[in-house]
Amino acid sequence: MLGTLFGIGVGPGDPELLTIKAARILREVSHVFAASSSKNDYSLAFSIVREHLREGTTVEQLAFPMTFKPEQLEDAWQANCEKVSEILEQGKDVAFLTLGDPLIYSTFAYLMRKVRRRLPQVTITVIPAITSFQAAAAYAGEPLVEGEEALTIVSGAKGANRLQDAADAAENVVIMKTYKHFKQILKSIRDQGLEDRFCFVSRCGLDGQIVERDFEKLAAMEQPPNYLSLMIVKKKGMEK
Ligand SMILES: C[S@@+](CC[C@H](N)C(=O)[O-])C[C@H]1O[C@@H](n2cnc3c(N)ncnc32)[C@H](O)[C@@H]1O
Repeated sequence: MLGTLFGIGVGPGDPELLTIKAARILREVSHVFAASSSKNDYSLAFSIVREHLREGTTVEQLAFPMTFKPEQLEDAWQANCEKVSEILEQGKDVAFLTLGDPLIYSTFAYLMRKVRRRLPQVTITVIPAITSFQAAAAYAGEPLVEGEEALTIVSGAKGANRLQDAADAAENVVIMKTYKHFKQILKSIRDQGLEDRFCFVSRCGLDGQIVERDFEKLAAMEQPPNYLSLMIVKKKGMEK
């Protein structure tokens, strides 16, 4: 008998935003994994769920390189898949933790595909969660989408090039992973005349939370923002 693989979304950071279902499953599994890298600190995911784990639960990091090089990624995920499969083959249930939701820009998607290929009989159950951008909209008090409007979600990890197309296609845009190319993303916002139609949210629900709408203040920042940062753009303008 194989164990079940649970992809568990732990929410955006505030432990009170963990779902009841995630908490219940975390009490029941014997093995918990989360991805670790220099940026995606696994300890945050563990700190959110720690109080729900029963004594004796094994917690383990899966090394995940912050690279776009396909071979390096492939090797790392094959090794991670082997580790997880080994536990499933012992008949133990495994939880893999993801900040926010497991199917939104999450390493869980890689793992799920690999494990499915390696153990075609395995049961994989995904526990959805509040995403970072839903929490950011809540903290900022900004509706994400209304009436007939559209919302586009893009990644800023490789720069601002997706932002123009996204803003052309939808009334509302969420730009995730804004930390690395922050200046370039701000420039794109200025070039499109959206300086008073966006909101920057960093570390929402966590120490050091920032909700900032002042473009010039952000443009004057000397350091790039925290990894846990995103922007909401609303072409019709912000509520606040
Ligand atoms: C790898 S993605 C994970 C997304 C996550 N699965 C979700 O559903 O929101 C990491 C990005 O999510 C965003 N993010 C995650 N947690 C956040 C938080 N507490 N505050 C602001 N942004 C956050 C940031 O844009 C960060 O670069």
